Amino acid sequence: MQITNNTILITGGSSGIGLAMAEAFLKAGNEVLICGRRESKLNEAKEKFPQLHTKVCDVSEKTDREELFQWATTEFPGINLLVNNAGIQKEINFLTGAAGLLDEENEIETNLTGSIHLCALFIPQFLKQEKECAIVNVTSGLAFIPLKIVPVYCATKAALHTFSISLRSQLTKTNVRVFEIAPPIVKTELHREAKARKQSQRGISPDVVADATLKALSRDQYETIVGQAKVLKGAARIAPGFFHRLLNKVAAGKD
Ligand SMILES: NC(=O)c1ccc[n+]([C@@H]2O[C@H](COP(=O)([O-])OP(=O)(O)OC[C@H]3O[C@@H](n4cnc5c(N)ncnc54)[C@H](OP(=O)(O)O)[C@@H]3O)[C@@H](O)[C@H]2O)c1
Repeated sequence: MQITNNTILITGGSSGIGLAMAEAFLKAGNEVLICGRRESKLNEAKEKFPQLHTKVCDVSEKTDREELFQWATTEFPGINLLVNNAGIQKEINFLTGAAGLLDEENEIETNLTGSIHLCALFIPQFLKQEKECAIVNVTSGLAFIPLKIVPVYCATKAALHTFSISLRSQLTKTNVRVFEIAPPIVKTELHREAKARKQSQRGISPDVVADATLKALSRDQYETIVGQAKVLKGAARIAPGFFHRLLNKVAAGKD
């Protein structure tokens, strides 16, 4: 599909991968809308890129998602691209009571329910458009081989991966394309707990993921596994149990 003259909503566009995508889409000549929970972060993004349109929204809340949809489609009726990028990651240990599983920052509602519900809201609108439309779901290499310290996060990404496959099949004969971008470790604010433990921050720049996303769209490459995440996808085909143990050993060694 074309990567210019689109109107794009990026959830979680105020930092990390979302902000890098916002910048790349703006540079390519698109109208870009971003949302996030913290107004201060949205304002920082707008200061950097004044062309951005911003909206405070918590995608884990049903009413916020509905409001976001109303705002985006009323103010920007030509909207034709939704990027489900907002995500959180939590370390949850079921041996010690799974603290944080259902507190106010809920991974399942944010990473999975939020993305699926936004698809449900935007697809009917997209089907009415005459131009090509797209949904971009941001998953993770951890969708293929899970990391045990972030078990719910990995489950949400694996679910969003299979959801993307089914949705793509359902929409195949329409004007709506479904893309999946699965990044490897990226240097962002996502790994707050690891940072708090002073674990070294590895990973690629969010700009690399943004670049891969625009390339994927321009080539109609519906599933894009970025960088080292390819190793995890391949490993899941060959020997998932072995590579799960290996990944967890390597991750533990870095602590
Ligand atoms: N970093 C990695 O290594 C990595 C690897 C693979 C995949 N990913 C995926 O990439 C996506 C972006 O993550 P990132 O690494 O760029 O992390 P990040 O820097 O922490 O950015 C996350 C963005 O999502 C927003 N957000 C979080 N919860 C939200 C909610 N409930 N409602 C609305 N916005 C929300 C944040 O803003 P507020 O906090 O202000 O809401 C922020 O703008 C996520 O889906 C993540 O799972 C990341």
